[in-house]
Amino acid sequence: MTDTTSPAVHSPGLAGIVAGRTAISSLDGRLRYRGYAVEDLAAGADFEQVAFLLLHGELPTADQHAAFVRRVWQAAAAIDPAVVASLAPLAHREPAASVMDALRTAVSVLGQVELDNLPGNRSVLVAEAERLIGQVPAILAAWLDLTAGRPVASWPAGPGGEPMPLARALLARLRGRPASDAETRLFGTTLVLYAEHEFNASTFAARTVVSTGSDMHSGICAGIAALKGPLHGGANEQVLDQLCEIGSTDRAEAWVNERLAAKRVIMGFGHRVYKDGDERAVLLGRLARETARGTPAEQLEDLADRVAAIMLERKGLKPNLDWPAARVYHALGLPVRVFTPIFVVARMSGWTAHIIEQIGDNRLIRPMSAYIGPPPRTLPPQRDQEHPRDQGH
Ligand SMILES: CC(C)(COP(=O)(O)OP(=O)(O)OC[C@H]1O[C@@H](n2cnc3c(N)ncnc32)[C@H](O)[C@@H]1OP(=O)(O)O)[C@@H](O)C(=O)NCCC(=O)NCCS
Repeated sequence: MTDTTSPAVHSPGLAGIVAGRTAISSLDGRLRYRGYAVEDLAAGADFEQVAFLLLHGELPTADQHAAFVRRVWQAAAAIDPAVVASLAPLAHREPAASVMDALRTAVSVLGQVELDNLPGNRSVLVAEAERLIGQVPAILAAWLDLTAGRPVASWPAGPGGEPMPLARALLARLRGRPASDAETRLFGTTLVLYAEHEFNASTFAARTVVSTGSDMHSGICAGIAALKGPLHGGANEQVLDQLCEIGSTDRAEAWVNERLAAKRVIMGFGHRVYKDGDERAVLLGRLARETARGTPAEQLEDLADRVAAIMLERKGLKPNLDWPAARVYHALGLPVRVFTPIFVVARMSGWTAHIIEQIGDNRLIRPMSAYIGPPPRTLPPQRDQEHPRDQGH
């Protein structure tokens, strides 16, 4: 048991504080999911293999992989119509709601229709997690159909009605056309890189919620709510907005200078735990450059490199994963408003794994605060006529 009588340490933003133990991922100079280096997984595993690894602790056998792909696909293909019906009246309001709000609402509705009130045992939680990993991308695609005024299309199947892996199916749904093998691989790599990242803000929020004895859907709602913020997942959408605003390499220096002079952060740079650069950003940046070679997207890559060089020189800051991810999603023809929701789709695997881990070895997460308000003082005597109780309120 923790000694709560020893002097408390205050670290703003909990920086450097070890807030729990996990067997899911580690940052020992490089990011590993259950011991496997993330670059190796990005090069050699698909999203379902990685999600299975995070949830179950080991990479799947070929049979386990096929069965997992099938379960996730079935969950995506069978969204309860009550969930879509609950979103429909919200789809045409002006100004339009953010897609992240729609996902957060949808997961809340899912929890209600599935009567998720209290966490079940491990096998119940794993089944719930696998369902959610399939349901969330299908709901994302359904929301885009609703907001475009189209009928909600069905979740795609492979040849002969076979289950289609998530990266290929989601890309097809988001763009309304089948994805090539190369596009699917690239998109899948982003999902693998976004899948898990130990005690980041959204994962910690999700763990905190379920540490109270609350249910998985409530934990996921908290995760989505935290990821929405621009200092976390919301950064990938702003990265593309920034690049569009700068427009060309010759404007990069003046733009960065202005922004820094105004004390505004530049999205896609800096990281709480990677002070010497994010290896995921290096890996995906290389893929973004290769994908752009010989296409008009090469100009955007040149601009991104120029901004990165200026940021390194001016602030000593290197890009984080959101920097190349935004360019990759843009190159794949995806609209900016789905960039952070795609991060949600990927991180569902990490969040659910953490929720199961927290529930499996729970202690209420309840830190302390350092009080900085007025010193102890005495309540002044109240005049009777001023007391709200005497005024009939
Ligand atoms: C990710 C982030 C929130 C980490 O924050 P942090 O660990 O609290 O780091 P700090 O805010 O202490 O940053 C240290 C210094 O670098 C500066 N800095 C950090 N990131 C910066 C950025 N992206 N642009 C400009 N300056 C930045 C801070 O202003 C601070 O400068 P100061 O010491 O002069 O005040 C921060 O780097 C950031 O806001 N990045 C942009 C958003 C982003 O890309 N988020 C995605 C993260 S994966």
